[in-house]
Amino acid sequence: MTAPPATRAVASRLSVAPMMDYTDRHLRFVLRQASRRTRLYTEMVTAEAVMRGDRARLLGFDAAEHPVALQLGGADPLVLAEAARIGEGYGYDEINLNVGCPSDRVQAGRFGACLMAEPDLVAHCVAAMARVVAVPVTVKCRLAIDDMPEWETLSALVGRIAEAGCGHVIVHARKAWLSGLSPRENREVPPLHPEMVWRLKAEFPSLAVTVNGGIRTLDEAERHLAHVDGVMIGRAVCENPWLLAEADLRLWGEPGAPADRHALLERVLPYMAATMAAGAPSHVITRHINGLFNGLPGARAWRRRLSEAAPGFTGTPAEAVHLVTAAAAMIPRQSEAFAA
Ligand SMILES: Cc1cc2nc3c(=O)[nH]c(=O)nc-3n(C[C@H](O)[C@H](O)[C@H](O)COP(=O)(O)O)c2cc1C
Repeated sequence: MTAPPATRAVASRLSVAPMMDYTDRHLRFVLRQASRRTRLYTEMVTAEAVMRGDRARLLGFDAAEHPVALQLGGADPLVLAEAARIGEGYGYDEINLNVGCPSDRVQAGRFGACLMAEPDLVAHCVAAMARVVAVPVTVKCRLAIDDMPEWETLSALVGRIAEAGCGHVIVHARKAWLSGLSPRENREVPPLHPEMVWRLKAEFPSLAVTVNGGIRTLDEAERHLAHVDGVMIGRAVCENPWLLAEADLRLWGEPGAPADRHALLERVLPYMAATMAAGAPSHVITRHINGLFNGLPGARAWRRRLSEAAPGFTGTPAEAVHLVTAAAAMIPRQSEAFAA
């Protein structure tokens, strides 16, 4: 099999991790109001679902979300290639393959993290996808699984996928244990080894390398960027979406972030009204702005008031906007503009 030429992937200096039940299109829209440059990843969508499911629901997104990457799950090169082609047709800027999820459901399908033990199969999957799409095909993986040695497993996988057309690898810098730990424990218990991801960049200098796992601030992100091309943040952004507001200026030298969290909210409200007018309940948006004021006086009152727009809310879009605006008014407006 001839490998396609490596897609010339360039890692975004900052990206938000794919997270099931979190990084849906609505959260991505909210995050995009904080940072124009940070790359956003979808939740994992299985290639089978892309083939058989409701594509508009699974793949639809707002043009404002760019740059946005579609993460696929699967292990059948032909099905993945077709799903990648469909994803590219929807306008995604990158197709990413999940080689890191340890859940039972994913293991039953023999994809996700268990593919760490099958570098040849992953390479076939990457080659099949890279052959049919023009956008970069990337891989998000772990260091290793179970009692496999970390560096040897990671470098063997990366060597194979780089040959197969993957120009950018994102590494969640810990092992996954396929039995004995829950998915949540697998994000907390195995120790982090970001220095192995730095080493990966040193040994594969032409490959774009992104480090992920346990990074909570832009200060930490900047320290990693001295060693790798990109940093991916997951949970810290869910807890505090405002974290991204400083990113464009600090990491790309670009101004334009909202002046403060209220200004960000003002950008979200018309989207919330339009989303509700199209038939969605208010909480699909409000669940993602719950943490917006975390750390400021009044944040608890905001969250309490916002919970009135929880599932069961039957008001109109205008009433929902009014409720959210009134909740935000309980928080003193303070400029958090970032100095250039
Ligand atoms: C709720 C949740 C869902 C996740 N879903 C996915 C997923 O669909 N695909 C994936 O590759 N990783 C998934 N992850 C893992 C994250 O992408 C990321 O690798 C992990 O959380 C470590 O980064 P962090 O410490 O910055 O959160 C998920 C993590 C969380 C917390």
